[in-house]
Amino acid sequence: MINYNTHHSLSIEGKIILITGAFGMIGKTIAMSFLEQGALVILADIDTDKKGDLENLLTRRFTEDRFLLQQLDITNEESCQNAINTILGKFGRLDVLINNAAIDAKFDKIHPGSVNQSRFENYPIDLLQKSIETNLTGTILITQHVCRVMMKQGFGNIINVASTYSVVAPNQSLYDYGDQKPQFKPVDYVASKSFIPNFTRYLATFYAHDNIRCNAIVPHGIANDHGKKFVENFAKLSPLGRMCEREELIGPFTFLASDASSYMTGSLLTVDGGWTAW
Ligand SMILES: NC(=O)c1ccc[n+]([C@@H]2O[C@H](COP(=O)([O-])OP(=O)(O)OC[C@H]3O[C@@H](n4cnc5c(N)ncnc54)[C@H](O)[C@@H]3O)[C@@H](O)[C@H]2O)c1
Repeated sequence: MINYNTHHSLSIEGKIILITGAFGMIGKTIAMSFLEQGALVILADIDTDKKGDLENLLTRRFTEDRFLLQQLDITNEESCQNAINTILGKFGRLDVLINNAAIDAKFDKIHPGSVNQSRFENYPIDLLQKSIETNLTGTILITQHVCRVMMKQGFGNIINVASTYSVVAPNQSLYDYGDQKPQFKPVDYVASKSFIPNFTRYLATFYAHDNIRCNAIVPHGIANDHGKKFVENFAKLSPLGRMCEREELIGPFTFLASDASSYMTGSLLTVDGGWTAW
């Protein structure tokens, strides 16, 4: 008999979910929505400056047993272990990890000068290494810590946050502001995010018999006070003709965090308005 009831429910109520980079744009959106949907959420981030405001917002809306604001540097072994200890101390288990923390180096302000640093042949190797350290090594490090917990408890669900630049090259004309100062999406982001799809497949197959699933979301172009020219450029290149509203990520994240996606592992869920479709 097929159970047509709630077995594959989209509900995430009661799930304990760790979101890294949760003080940033996407992480905060997902965290707030998950709390509204009844999940218990650990919001973890390296940037403690934003912690106070977020704490005020959360305590106005949710009781303190529902959330944890956790300082976490995913590139630091001790910080990862402290976070895990605190999470287990408060909630006792961890159902879902969302690997959302990342560096997206904005156009180079650290190395100003006459040479255009955003061009591939000029891109500073120290900036590349910084992005690799966070987006690749840091993502692996925090996932190792979480997988030890998930192996012990016998279940788990990991959602990696990729990017369209994990699967296709940037169309550099997007960054042409028509001001005779050409800017390019630097190679560090593309290099460090390209590992996410295959890391997702690696984890999915590695843990396939351990009741631990792993999938990735591939978002693109979340609207966030971009300039007029950028928005126009984006609209011309996008099949849907517009940027993504941050709320439009909630459904896909909820789906992957819920049991409705129970037969999915090793998949990429693309949320890009068709960007990679042509
Ligand atoms: N914004 C977009 O349009 C877009 C598109 C595709 C993919 N993404 C991906 O979505 C994710 C979130 O992006 P966002 O736009 O919200 O960025 P954001 O910069 O607003 O948030 C990223 C957060 O990660 C945190 N962080 C950085 N290094 C960290 C570390 N070592 N340890 C813990 N936290 C750390 C930052 O403090 C920040 O709060 C990233 O993985 C990004 O690559 C974003």
